Amino acid sequence: MGSSTSCCCSQEDDEGSKIGAGNASWRIFTYKELHAATNGFSENNELGEGGFGNVYYGKMSDGLQIAVKKLKSMNQKAEMEFAVEVEVLGRVQHKNLLGLRGYCAGAEQRLIVYDYMPNLSLLTHLHGQVTGEVQLDWKRRMKIALGSAEGLLYLHHEVTPHIIHRDIKASNVLLDSDFEPLVADFGFAKLIPEGVSHMTTKVKGTMGYLAPEYAMWGKVSESCDVYSFGILLLEIVTGRKPIEKLPGGAKRTITEWTEPLIVKGRFKDIVDPKLRGNFDENQLKQAILVAALCVQNEPEKRPNMKEVVSLLQGYGPKGKVMRMRLESDKNGDDLMALDQASDDGDGNHYDESSAYGVFGAMEVQKLQDPYKRYGDRRMAKHR
Ligand SMILES: Nc1ncnc2c1ncn2[C@@H]1O[C@H](COP(=O)(O)OP(=O)(O)OP(=O)(O)O)[C@@H](O)[C@H]1O
Ligand SMILES: [Mg+2]
Repeated sequence: MGSSTSCCCSQEDDEGSKIGAGNASWRIFTYKELHAATNGFSENNELGEGGFGNVYYGKMSDGLQIAVKKLKSMNQKAEMEFAVEVEVLGRVQHKNLLGLRGYCAGAEQRLIVYDYMPNLSLLTHLHGQVTGEVQLDWKRRMKIALGSAEGLLYLHHEVTPHIIHRDIKASNVLLDSDFEPLVADFGFAKLIPEGVSHMTTKVKGTMGYLAPEYAMWGKVSESCDVYSFGILLLEIVTGRKPIEKLPGGAKRTITEWTEPLIVKGRFKDIVDPKLRGNFDENQLKQAILVAALCVQNEPEKRPNMKEVVSLLQGYGPKGKVMRMRLESDKNGDDLMALDQASDDGDGNHYDESSAYGVFGAMEVQKLQDPYKRYGDRRMAKHR
């Protein structure tokens, strides 16, 4: 699909070409059929707005429900994102990655077609209109965390060449009717040539989720996704945004908020109050510890996604993998001690004066609120 943008679909054609080659059954759509499916891209069909453009709900004449992402403006940057997204999507196939249904690349338009996800994005449930309904119980949250991690594991370790997503965040985790997560949006993805451990690139992604070495020096590796995943995991567990605006206007990152509580072993104070105490305590501890490992400042100390998945699955390595990676890490030792301390049921015996940070947060002033664009006006319109 390297020449994706050169494939044109005419606005006059009624039927798009069926390509269906490769690993998934995607095809080229015509502008006319997408126009018809989305009610002329009507405001009522709008599911959301992102950096690329608007996303519309659509229903094809055969009943297939789709989501159509329509490029806002045609410029080189947007064209590149479109090409990367289509190129990458054409290569991946995994139960936790949102695959490509097709696309339309005419003279004036660029549109990407996906399967419609009836439960929209994780963002909608954690911070949008439906948060009050608490559809995200603990079991679903853990399923979303594990599924997203499995999608990332596939990108980092299974597909060739390996892929770094670079924009892991709550709005890019979509939820199907069973709340199975599908990681979406590969417009910023980077394909990693074999043997390359990291590259230096222009920084893309969303503030609040960016690994420090990437935000500051543009150093990108799989570990940047691991960091973003750690932030996402904290978000899933706490129900808090990666960056919060405090009353005086200052901003606080989720790591800054959780850090002192983790150090003191106050795991139960970290968990989202909307769960009303309905959570599995061991899983909670494990999830927080995994998140804390992922958001360490030094990329080499973070686990890889294989380790993250097995830790989240609760397999043997509880302690083992962590110990292995954190042997010489003072903070990591504290985490391990913490784990044991909280196992004793004494979550509060840490002295605050010794609370020297388990992972160290980024400077608050440098960060912006990634949510200010979203009004979340569209939940459940189409269900
Ligand atoms: N396949 C889909 N099914 C249902 N809803 C979708 C689908 N794709 C996107 N959406 C909705 O549209 C919203 C906007 O998506 P989009 O990817 O354009 O922007 P974003 O993720 O919020 O920001 P960014 O441009 O930085 O990725 C999502 O948050 C989600 O609610
Ligand atoms: Mg997105």
